[in-house]
Amino acid sequence: MHKMTVRDIEVTDKRVLVRVDFNVPIDPETGAITDDSRILAGLPTINYLIERNARVILISHLGRPKGKFVKELRLAVVAQRLSQILGQQVGVAVDCIGPEVERSVEALKPGQVLLLENLRFHSDEETGSADFAKALARLGDFFVNDAFGTSHRAHASVAGIAQYLPAVAGLLLEKEVDTLGGLLEHPEHPFTAIFGGAKVSDKLGMLKNIEGKVDCLLIGGGMAATFLKARGFEVGKSVVETDCVDTAADLIEESARNHARLVLPVDVVVTAGLDGKARGRVVATDAVPADKIIADIGPKTLANFSRELEKSRTIFWNGPVGVAEIRRFAVGTESLARLLSRLDATTIIGGGSTAEVFNALGLAYKVTFVSTGGGASLKFLSGEELPGVTSLLDEEMVPEA
Ligand code: 3PG
Ligand code: MG
Repeated sequence: MHKMTVRDIEVTDKRVLVRVDFNVPIDPETGAITDDSRILAGLPTINYLIERNARVILISHLGRPKGKFVKELRLAVVAQRLSQILGQQVGVAVDCIGPEVERSVEALKPGQVLLLENLRFHSDEETGSADFAKALARLGDFFVNDAFGTSHRAHASVAGIAQYLPAVAGLLLEKEVDTLGGLLEHPEHPFTAIFGGAKVSDKLGMLKNIEGKVDCLLIGGGMAATFLKARGFEVGKSVVETDCVDTAADLIEESARNHARLVLPVDVVVTAGLDGKARGRVVATDAVPADKIIADIGPKTLANFSRELEKSRTIFWNGPVGVAEIRRFAVGTESLARLLSRLDATTIIGGGSTAEVFNALGLAYKVTFVSTGGGASLKFLSGEELPGVTSLLDEEMVPEA
């Protein structure tokens, strides 16, 4: 990446304010963290700073409290988990700005870590208030953005602070940008992308940007219904985004012009409802009953997809190919996850629900990279700039010898 990183600054004894994305899923019943992979992904930067005796001040949001204090969204549970992982106490501040927080920061010794309270308890965070960004900036000598998952938001703690402190990338942010950027710039061919998830509209930018670079596009999930409709199939009660049917048809045509294979399901699992009780049945794509919903890809489709994936050197996957949160409709998604974990290709997993599948199956360590960004990776792969990245200092031009 063409930005300065934490390796380019002298951090010893300094107060380093690190924006992390510790927006982890929490079980509403028990209040426990159900997937700590975003905390683990933050470790390289945190350990780098601890080893160099920096005073580490972490800032994050959790959930969407919309500018109000919400007891269940306090970051104490995250600090506890981080303390366990680091084997050292991570304190939690009472808030994220103000005199009391400033005193806690002043009390930090080199090598110690403090987590400030949920940024989104202040509405000024999401509006990008300059005063709020300034109040945060008072707490540090340097700003490090390591919150790739939030870098598509122009919030005060993401892009704002960079106006008031020297701002550099963290090691996770660097890895994300280099890995996802590498997909767009120099993928090894054949390059196959799997797209799924509920909505085409969320993914159009990414589909358009990546379509000219791939050799093969495999389409599943809820969004397949819109593509099937564009091909003239009836999809029963599955949700079709009517305003995207024409674009889907254009993408199908364009891929043919680009000699990229766009592979749609030839069979699907249909069901009467998505309440978790209704069972599924495999039908051919041209025989979806009028009163049924498509809930997964079928076995022939899985075989077709697998054949393409086995030939590929680079694979990018964004979005489950079925309703993966319901066990019996997770067969296609989990089978593909297992296949990817066995392949020798470069395998890159978009964040959000696809990442959750790999984490839940314990397969994340068997692929090349699992992004921590859902919305952020979509934006990045659409070719758009991320406010949390553009705001950082540019890499210094090294004069040629
Ligand atoms: C995410 O999980 O998508 C990021 O943490 C950003 O959160 P947001 O979508 O609520 O802005
Ligand atoms: Mg999001």
